[in-house]
Amino acid sequence: MSDLALKIENVSAGYGETVVLNNISLEVHKGERLAIIGRNGVGKTTLLATIMGLTNLHSGSIALNGKPIMHLPTHVRARSGLGLVPQTRDIFPSLSVEENLISGMRGDASLDEAYELFPRLKERRSNGGGTLSGGEQQMLAIARTLLGKPEVLLLDEPLEGLAPVICDMLLDVFEQIAKSGSQTVVLVEQHTGLAVNFADRVIIIDGGEIVHAGTSQELVENPGLLERHVGVGLMEAN
Ligand SMILES: Nc1ncnc2c1ncn2[C@@H]1O[C@H](COP(=O)(O)OP(=O)(O)OP(=O)(O)O)[C@@H](O)[C@H]1O
Ligand SMILES: [Mg+2]
Repeated sequence: MSDLALKIENVSAGYGETVVLNNISLEVHKGERLAIIGRNGVGKTTLLATIMGLTNLHSGSIALNGKPIMHLPTHVRARSGLGLVPQTRDIFPSLSVEENLISGMRGDASLDEAYELFPRLKERRSNGGGTLSGGEQQMLAIARTLLGKPEVLLLDEPLEGLAPVICDMLLDVFEQIAKSGSQTVVLVEQHTGLAVNFADRVIIIDGGEIVHAGTSQELVENPGLLERHVGVGLMEAN
């Protein structure tokens, strides 16, 4: 049996007739941490959305655990083991924290798991989702997705717009989630330094194409690669 969690081959996709992603191929191994980085508007969100079936796939294939999923509707992909925390967070503002969490629960998941990772959510469990701070909403979006027990967790810029102290706290949580070795994590991030620190491998996207794929170590040793493809070095990128 292959140890591939996700395999994307020659994928071109976009919105309607518009093509945003061009001939993307990538593999993510089980338990691996992959970071996807790149400037604004290069197609990072579109790539995660395409994996979830939320865009128009023009060509190519997507397999989860060796099984083709590209013709399955989004909710079936989610049930098959994909969990997306969208850039827009998408919590239910009129439901309480607890109700939001329950809406994401699957199988033997329990609220306590979410509250253990995020004690702040337990304190605010009766509050409306819409009354939470940005950081708390992100915690809720992450916790809700985790209660769906995804084999592959897709995180779309989870640190965007959050205070450094919250970013550190979320990175700790990602560390805890990933360290078991069985959770596959795909992290899209503009905080390039943090992403490279967290990930085993990094993919750089530009203009809807993969312009570099390699280990995190390689990027640390060749800062020119980041400079060329993202326009920033590792230091400023943090
Ligand atoms: N729903 C949509 N309909 C049409 N075009 C879209 C849609 N969403 C995104 N695009 C376009 O697709 C391209 C890639 O956008 P995408 O959101 O994937 O970039 P991104 O790398 O995630 O950027 P950011 O870092 O700002 O989040 C952009 O040109 C964008 O305008
Ligand atoms: Mg995006």
